[in-house]
Amino acid sequence: MTDRITFDGPVILGAGLAGLSAALASVEGTAGKAMVLSPTPLATGCSSAWAQGGMAAALSADDAPALHAADTIAAGAGLCDPQAVTLLTTEGPDAVRALAALGAPFDRKAGGDFVLSLEAAHSKARVARVGGDGAGAAIMAAVIAAVRAAPSIEIRESARARRLLQDAAGRVVGVLAEIDGALVEIIAPAVILATGGIGGLYAVTTTPKEVRGEGLGLAALAGAVIADPEFVQFHPTAIDIGRDPAPLATEALRGEGAILRNSDARAFMADYHPAKELAPRDVVARAIHAEREAGRGAFLDATVVVGGHFPTEFPAVFEACMSGGVDPRRAMIPVVPAVHYHMGGVATDLDGRASLPGLFAAGECAATGVQGANRLASNSLLEAAVFGARAGRAAAAEVQTGGAPVSLAPFPDLPEAALQTLRKAMSRDAGVVRDATGLTRLLGEVEALEAAHGPCPTLIAARLIVEAALARRESRGGHCRSDFPDTDAVGVRTFVTLQEAGAAVRYAAE
Ligand code: SIN
Repeated sequence: MTDRITFDGPVILGAGLAGLSAALASVEGTAGKAMVLSPTPLATGCSSAWAQGGMAAALSADDAPALHAADTIAAGAGLCDPQAVTLLTTEGPDAVRALAALGAPFDRKAGGDFVLSLEAAHSKARVARVGGDGAGAAIMAAVIAAVRAAPSIEIRESARARRLLQDAAGRVVGVLAEIDGALVEIIAPAVILATGGIGGLYAVTTTPKEVRGEGLGLAALAGAVIADPEFVQFHPTAIDIGRDPAPLATEALRGEGAILRNSDARAFMADYHPAKELAPRDVVARAIHAEREAGRGAFLDATVVVGGHFPTEFPAVFEACMSGGVDPRRAMIPVVPAVHYHMGGVATDLDGRASLPGLFAAGECAATGVQGANRLASNSLLEAAVFGARAGRAAAAEVQTGGAPVSLAPFPDLPEAALQTLRKAMSRDAGVVRDATGLTRLLGEVEALEAAHGPCPTLIAARLIVEAALARRESRGGHCRSDFPDTDAVGVRTFVTLQEAGAAVRYAAE
């Protein structure tokens, strides 16, 4: 028989920066408590710990939240929610300072000011970094120490959500979790999804493999509104040395002046955009994709601008390159666009509330409206910290409890071989450049996998991406349709439920 626990505080699914920021904020200054479920040991299996660039915020005297907001909105290609962006950029500097106060060792100048890097599509150098390219790991270490020191935060590792529990009215009343291999029903007044993105649904990704849209799929299966699932961000410069996941060559390298060249050593970015290497991320990704498709290859040349300083200035990138036999002090780094971030997610309000009562979402699995059609570099850790904390506070205030859960069966897992089939198909047909032929073929493959394996949350996440990509008959931000290359005059966000997408009806009886 499945154990049942009743917990008097928010249950948080995921232990990246969003989840742990939510946990800390939910108990701060209160007698409340929070429970964090992490499928992997803390600091592993989450994209936050792999982030290289840092956190963008208006931290210098010549910068302002309004300038940061304008850059965010310009990159977002017409789909940002201005209110959410204003909130992000206004609360951003304090969020960075709060992490510094927790012990995140941001790089500082002699006088104590933050060292700030320039990244693509930012009008100012505003990315607070740690040890050159180690921001994510260092920030997570500080936050994990704070969470571990908080007696009111209970952490369960090896704990995966298998279903959101709902009462007869549809309210989310808890979660069915698999903890150390055993199913446990956890009844709680609020559930916060902080399960990260969808990189693991693709064959070429910079994110941990464990991050494969499960939270998104579980929310959709529960009937939550999902926003903008078609908008997947490809980082232009993953290091192409045959590793899965692909290591990242941070955008800060291009900020330092590294040049993109093809195999003839020709600098090609001027052919694609006047801002060259510092063009918006989607433009650079498409340029690299085009050079590779044309057989010319793509390489990042930092031999002159970084050269001998590589091991100390960009230690993570240096180590990754050397592990693949590329010495970036002397040789160009082979690069490939790789799935890096999901702009879409569970639709939320400014406090992380999803469309279902009792359900909240934060970080990459949420769509707050700040990332639009194309996230501005280094806005993701910032969003995780700012909106994670807001979701934590709002969820802690949730006192209403629901009725008994009506459905208790776990959703099925996608077997490994089927997952690998899905990953290849997603990279082939829902990649940097898409068209109706490829997306239709892909939808057929996803449907065949669903017929064989049932409503696995990963398949549901994939279906949402593919159906929305097929439905958006324009190109905008991270979504490029070769058969619809123009951008509509007015940007319209996608809001969809699984019922509308066509699948949930079949699963309603589960
Ligand atoms: C990078 O360092 O290039 C990644 C930063 C980001 O994705 O925000």
